[in-house]
Amino acid sequence: MKKFYLTTAIDYANGSPHIGHAYEKILADAIIRTRRLEGEECYFLTGLDEHGQKVAETAQKQSISPKTLCDGVAEKFKGLCVRLMVDYDDYIRTTDERHKIVVRKILQKLWDSGEIYRAEYTGLYSTRAERFVQERDKVEGRWPDDIGEPIELKETNYFFRLSHYQEWLIDFLNKNPDFVVPAFRQKQVIEFLKEPINDLCISRPKSRLSWGIELPFDSDYVTYVWFDALVNYISAVGYEEERFGDYWPVDFHVIGKDILVPAHAIYWPIMLHALGIPLPRHLLAHGWWLAKSGEKMSKSLGNSVQPLDYVDFYGADAFRFFLLREMITGQDGNFSHDLFVARYNADLANDLGNLVSRLINMVGRYCSGKIPNPSSVGPLDRDIEESAQRLIPSVRMEYGNFAFHTGLEQIFSFVGQLNRYVETRAPWKLAKQTGNPTATGQLNTTLSFVAEGMRIVAELLRPIMPWIGPEILRRLGTSPVDTWENLSWATSAAGKEVLPEGILFPKVEWRESHAMS
Ligand code: MSP
Repeated sequence: MKKFYLTTAIDYANGSPHIGHAYEKILADAIIRTRRLEGEECYFLTGLDEHGQKVAETAQKQSISPKTLCDGVAEKFKGLCVRLMVDYDDYIRTTDERHKIVVRKILQKLWDSGEIYRAEYTGLYSTRAERFVQERDKVEGRWPDDIGEPIELKETNYFFRLSHYQEWLIDFLNKNPDFVVPAFRQKQVIEFLKEPINDLCISRPKSRLSWGIELPFDSDYVTYVWFDALVNYISAVGYEEERFGDYWPVDFHVIGKDILVPAHAIYWPIMLHALGIPLPRHLLAHGWWLAKSGEKMSKSLGNSVQPLDYVDFYGADAFRFFLLREMITGQDGNFSHDLFVARYNADLANDLGNLVSRLINMVGRYCSGKIPNPSSVGPLDRDIEESAQRLIPSVRMEYGNFAFHTGLEQIFSFVGQLNRYVETRAPWKLAKQTGNPTATGQLNTTLSFVAEGMRIVAELLRPIMPWIGPEILRRLGTSPVDTWENLSWATSAAGKEVLPEGILFPKVEWRESHAMS
């Protein structure tokens, strides 16, 4: 049966993992975890993009082979996934034999069908972007940073007939307005296609670059990185094998906005179409994390964020929470250490963590450690139940639309309501009125309802905070549901024994936290 198949971009092997890599994987992982909780069978692919000039140059500087360099980088990136609790099913590397075989097979097919031709070309070549560029790539009349100053180059190369398919692609996009999510990005693709597109140079002479996959029909050339990299999405799931149909067409390619046009929205659909392979169902293009001042993050500017520093200090759950709470999927977001600490302290330490500790303490003190059965239910209690009942479908819908920020906002607004409920009811006062059945009834109902509300919160947090969600459930003496189909208000924790354990989110002093920023 066809699985829900989702991929991320494969990261370049010429640097260290940064917040952008971390965010994309966390976003993809949260989508996958949500789908799994919705009862779908899923497959999650990520990986490493290893060929190209920059990797070759870095390896040369370190006097090691490119493959040795990539082996080390792959370990680092995989390690990042483990630390971030990103639970992928497969990790593809473009140096994998299984990948190289498919790239060569595809090149041969396109060559045989006349989609690739050989020609001499004179043009502007950007070493930084590793491609021929055109005047139209300029931004406000200047070459942007990711292109740098191009050089004029005359070279015989192989070209893919991209231009043949321009009208077909425009037509496809018009017929499939939700191909790119969010919709405003699809408009950008259509805008780009208003100008004629050139055929794509898909080769590099080995004399200039040898670290790549050799063309099957000319051993003096290797293939261009994008032609190699994009193919990972099909080489990983057994292109031309029987199992291919269990995965393809992919449901979502999760990518950053910078690699939407032209790579994913133009090269890739045309490559697939020319090969007679069905197109991806959707591309999900997320925005970029920028520094506080709104500028690009970079090592040289000294404003980049090291994801593992945050994971070490605050834990992966808190880091994941912040990235998904703060960023509106599809738009850019600003990362600021102060904002991180403020959110951590307010939402996680004060609102969520404190409530769990208070609840467990009160159940320990007033109910011998067992969650009581609710007794009398008044309007105040009913409000809690009704809010929880509304919260479940609403958060499921928001997550389903990738609006994790809104889903989380709703969850934490409910946590606030639970906190106010506790304050209003003041179980510590009710507990003092021994022999007063109304007070005892209210005490039991309050603790039971907070426990049930908390159970629902913990369940809904699972895709975002894969450790904390189940951990809260464990402390409440209960276990996670299989699928969210089975999640509803049920005061099902009654009679369960709570576990008084350490603080979930220790409050952080701004000064102390600043040592790492
Ligand atoms: N290797 C190519 C992708 C090939 S996919 C067939 C590549 N690699 S990358 O390492 O530069 O970027 C990997 C992903 O990280 C991209 O989707 C990119 O948009 C994303 N990010 C890189 N920096 C980012 C931020 N500052 N913020 C959010 N994501 C960004 O491109």
